[in-house]
Amino acid sequence: MNGAHYSSPELFNDEIKTIFPGWICVGTTNELPSNGSKVFELYKRKTILVIRKDNSFEAFYNSCRHRGAQLRDIEDLFSNSSKIICPYHSWCYDLDGKLVNAPRCEDTPKLFLKKLRCTIVHNLIWVSEKEPEPLQLGRDAPDLLAEYNFKEYVSVYETTIEIQANWKLLVSNFNCYYHLAKVHPWLHKRSKIDNHHHISTDSPNSIVFKTDPITEGEPFYFDQMGGSGRKDVGLFFVFFPNVFIFAMRDHAFIVTLIPQSESKTIEKAQLLVHPSKADNKQYWNSLLNYYTTTNNEDIDICLKTQKGVSNFYPGGTYIEPFESAVKKFDTLYLSKL
Ligand code: FES
Ligand SMILES: [Fe+2]
Repeated sequence: MNGAHYSSPELFNDEIKTIFPGWICVGTTNELPSNGSKVFELYKRKTILVIRKDNSFEAFYNSCRHRGAQLRDIEDLFSNSSKIICPYHSWCYDLDGKLVNAPRCEDTPKLFLKKLRCTIVHNLIWVSEKEPEPLQLGRDAPDLLAEYNFKEYVSVYETTIEIQANWKLLVSNFNCYYHLAKVHPWLHKRSKIDNHHHISTDSPNSIVFKTDPITEGEPFYFDQMGGSGRKDVGLFFVFFPNVFIFAMRDHAFIVTLIPQSESKTIEKAQLLVHPSKADNKQYWNSLLNYYTTTNNEDIDICLKTQKGVSNFYPGGTYIEPFESAVKKFDTLYLSKL
């Protein structure tokens, strides 16, 4: 990978044609009410509606079938209404995307909102504009994720920020533990470089690594952690192309990336906590503090890297084993272009 991969508008346009109409993760089922809808971003401000009806999920383009008006704004919170009403001429759709009322029409036109492919992997919502390729995440990595049962967790915090960096730099930085001591000196006391291990799985489009062991201390109080399995291990997942997850026994920090341009990305971050911790605001506030601090340190170094690669970067080298996950992601990306 060289500077152009992170700073060329032409290459970004290629990605928008090849990678991003394919399967991407837009968020989690934890964000939706049991019946209702929410607006999610795909890329370049393109938005969709994900509708949950009982326990099934469908994705639709956020465009009215009459004159194409955007049905709901991205700023809207989720809606638990069973109807979606267009702001232009009040056409009304039900939770199956069916037009059920068009004012002043004797016969309601037989129209449906246009669907995208949508599938759920545990609590991750995946959509694709491409037919008919199935989502391929294999078994190993999703099985490891399944142990956490995150779909039962409670979303206590969500934030969306715009970062002046290419989306791949943010993924690469997540995959990298070589930078821990320099960029995160405080975190490095809890989560040491030498305690990080890349776990190789056979799952396509997936990268998994772990910290084993994490050192106990704020914000990781192991006696508070629920679930089965070892409490002093943190697992980290990347699912190509745009989602990464910090998975701990009692919480998850999930980041989805929405590329805007070759040098701008919207990052949506969510903190999910075990239901038994949802009321323990003091506890999850300390987690939030930790993730916000660490994430800001990461964003800061990604901004500097974006500037550097835009100056001149002929490509570098990978320092094994600390950057083997970085190398795996780059190899995966280059195979998709
Ligand atoms: S554009 Fe939606 S009702 Fe006319
Ligand atoms: Fe980092």
